[in-house]
Amino acid sequence: MTSPPLAADAAVDYDPYSYEIDEDPFPVYRWLRDHAPAYYSAEQDFWAVTRFDDNLAFLVDSERLTSTHSTSLEFMDSPKPDTGLMIWMDPPRHNKYRALVSKAFTPRAIRELEPAIHRIARGHLDRIGDRSSFDIIEDFTARLPMDVISELLGIPEERRAWVQHASNLMLHREPGNPMPTPEAMASIVELMEYFGELIDERRKRPSNDTLTRLTQVEVETEDGTRERLSDDDIRQFLNLLATAGNETVTKLLGTLFHELSRNPDERAALVADPGLAANAVEETLRFDPPSQYQGRVATVDIPLHGRMIPAGARVLCVNGASGRDERKFPDPDRFDVRREIDLHLGFGYGRHICLGAYLARMESRIAIQEVLARWPEYEIPADGLERMHSSNVRGFSSVRFEVA
Ligand code: HEM
Repeated sequence: MTSPPLAADAAVDYDPYSYEIDEDPFPVYRWLRDHAPAYYSAEQDFWAVTRFDDNLAFLVDSERLTSTHSTSLEFMDSPKPDTGLMIWMDPPRHNKYRALVSKAFTPRAIRELEPAIHRIARGHLDRIGDRSSFDIIEDFTARLPMDVISELLGIPEERRAWVQHASNLMLHREPGNPMPTPEAMASIVELMEYFGELIDERRKRPSNDTLTRLTQVEVETEDGTRERLSDDDIRQFLNLLATAGNETVTKLLGTLFHELSRNPDERAALVADPGLAANAVEETLRFDPPSQYQGRVATVDIPLHGRMIPAGARVLCVNGASGRDERKFPDPDRFDVRREIDLHLGFGYGRHICLGAYLARMESRIAIQEVLARWPEYEIPADGLERMHSSNVRGFSSVRFEVA
């Protein structure tokens, strides 16, 4: 179900923190694309870019648009030169940091994980057993990516649920307050302490995981010498990989299963042809991606649609809006698992394009295939949905599955 379009003269206030808009941001996005493709929010002092072509051009342009002020609106006031988070870096530093972990995420490396991902998925679904009502987020979509990324990183089984809970708390925002809550701040500190313990342990007892590799690799510094990553850098890597590889897949699958319950014909098509699952993932990334915008700061004045985005401005590249741009996708509000998609921006684009895209695709495809093989028909009642709220991650924290 999609809400009717907003009137052309409606005074639209796009607030990325609004719980109300987050319920269904698509009418607002449509209005922005049609009437204010270079939108400025005077209230919160940011610009928003919503059309597909503009967004594509902005995401590849790391000369005129920097990631170094962070990529979430609430943190974008100042540069973060000392961060170890590659997602907040520009070249050449970004290239060096990305190269350190990119080998672990190549299609070839990820293909080897396929049997393990099936095994992990089946294990969780077996534990659901023959219950007729369960929360597919809590019992499945949150667990699968956490287990997979933990295997890759070397986070032991007994701490995974805790890491997940802490990263959820870290992202949560209260209405009207974009800054992290005291609980979120406490979670960041606790997570960092825990990652510190893990790093110490791997330094003492190296193993065959990405974490051990990070304790051993060297990066070239600006003066050409080579040095090991600091503990703080490694903590930031773990934080980025554990949160990026977790929340996003969890949310993508929640949205996808919800769309399939609202579109039973699409679900039936997937049941009849499980080979369509990979395309259903791409369609969800276009239709309602977990990451709704990528924040950047303009390094120079940028003209756009007759306006001037000034140097220093905070700019949101709203890929959530670009996926519904009818200039690019015909009948964009229709969820269609067979849609031919040559390119979407659900994983971002350009040098920061999602490092875990191949892994996310594989996990999500396997999850759909395993779930629909067990429950080809299910209901999600209207009161069985809860949304999580954060500034740029969109999706459900709870989705009640009812099976016959
Ligand atoms: C459906 C799931 C996922 C979605 C929608 C998603 C989305 C994104 C997006 C939009 C970006 C670009 C950020 C920017 O341009 O500022 C990104 C970057 C990134 N993603 Fe994902 N992601 C997903 C899964 C994963 C997984 C499973 C991992 C695994 C580790 C991961 C790791 C990363 C990392 C490390 C970056 C930063 C890359 C860089 O800065 O070069 N993501 N992701």
